[in-house]
Amino acid sequence: MKGPATELIHAGESDHGAAVTLTTPIYETSTFVFESAKEVLAYNEGRSSKYLYSRYANPTVVSVERKLAALDRTEDALLLSSGMGATTTILMAHARAGDEIVCGAAIYGGTLHLLEDLLTKFAITVRFVPVEALAQPERLIGERTRIVWFESPINPTLRCVDVRRISEACRARGVLSVLDNTFASPINQQPFALGVDLAMQSATKYLNGHSDVTGGVVSGPRALVEPVAMARRLVGTVMDPYAAYALGRGLKTLPLRVARHNSNAQAVAGFLAKDARVSRVYYPGLPSHPDHDIAKRQMTGFGGMICFDLGGRYDRAERLYDRLKVIKRAASLGGVESLISMPVLTSQWGHTDEQLREAGVTRGMLRLSVGLEDVEDLIEDLDQALA
Ligand SMILES: Cc1ncc(COP(=O)(O)O)c(C=O)c1O
Repeated sequence: MKGPATELIHAGESDHGAAVTLTTPIYETSTFVFESAKEVLAYNEGRSSKYLYSRYANPTVVSVERKLAALDRTEDALLLSSGMGATTTILMAHARAGDEIVCGAAIYGGTLHLLEDLLTKFAITVRFVPVEALAQPERLIGERTRIVWFESPINPTLRCVDVRRISEACRARGVLSVLDNTFASPINQQPFALGVDLAMQSATKYLNGHSDVTGGVVSGPRALVEPVAMARRLVGTVMDPYAAYALGRGLKTLPLRVARHNSNAQAVAGFLAKDARVSRVYYPGLPSHPDHDIAKRQMTGFGGMICFDLGGRYDRAERLYDRLKVIKRAASLGGVESLISMPVLTSQWGHTDEQLREAGVTRGMLRLSVGLEDVEDLIEDLDQALA
């Protein structure tokens, strides 16, 4: 017997008998044990399946990364500490001083600020282009363009761009195309079947689906994901094993959840579109949506996000927002709970009138993330709040 401190620290560790677990346990360990210097050497030389340090790789995290690569039907996926962590790490890996990044002007506000406020400090130029310009991507690519970064559907207006056309234009010029697929999720839109080079997602949204994890994903062919993995080691933007465990559990019901998000949102959008108190409804599944045809071509479901406008009037949007009872006033999206936000107070907060116009956002807009509640209750809640 050793002393009590030694026993308490070492007894029972790394000895799990014949337990063969059904689900992947949470490997809540920052580091991993080796038997010999030879083993460490084999690891360093890439001849071992062992793990060294959780900032590099962790079995719980890797098991969820495999699910995500399979879901996207691509070679590799990485989990990161947040969607913004994923975006930052992709850019650190694939852009360098002197490069230009072309980005849709109607884009998630965090992405916009990262590119505009931070990236430009590193001698990287950013050119924001309107949605209409993304319809002719061949014209957007210049001599110094290194990356075209875009979303579809776009936050918060749900405008859609032709993913295949942008990807093909990029490939023809040797430029990296990166799609933020957060709003669609891979259940509704398969980025690699549409030809993109890399896909990024905020795992905080549909992938986890239960509003209790912050995370991000990058997926794609190994040759493009590997530099992001190296950057992730150095920047330290890896996901924690506990968050990965929760995300892995959420992912198991993703197809079921997304099917219900799609059908609930279609019903709510149909209700709002018929209501005279609502001036405009943006939902890719409505034939009135400007990009309905593109959405039909590239999506297998239209998603759970709806945006609607109360005549551009902030006072009317505020009134409806404050009166809702079932739908919760909260930022974020993609969870089981229906959430509402006013884009001018959240994703487009602080934007100038011109930036709002470029993003297609008005002060009377509301963005609704339709959850998995009984749809009649959601419609009744909106109907009463509009009254
Ligand atoms: C489309 C889109 N991309 C990226 C992000 C950033 O993700 P996260 O909040 O997980 O960093 C968000 C967050 O709302 C988003 O809506």
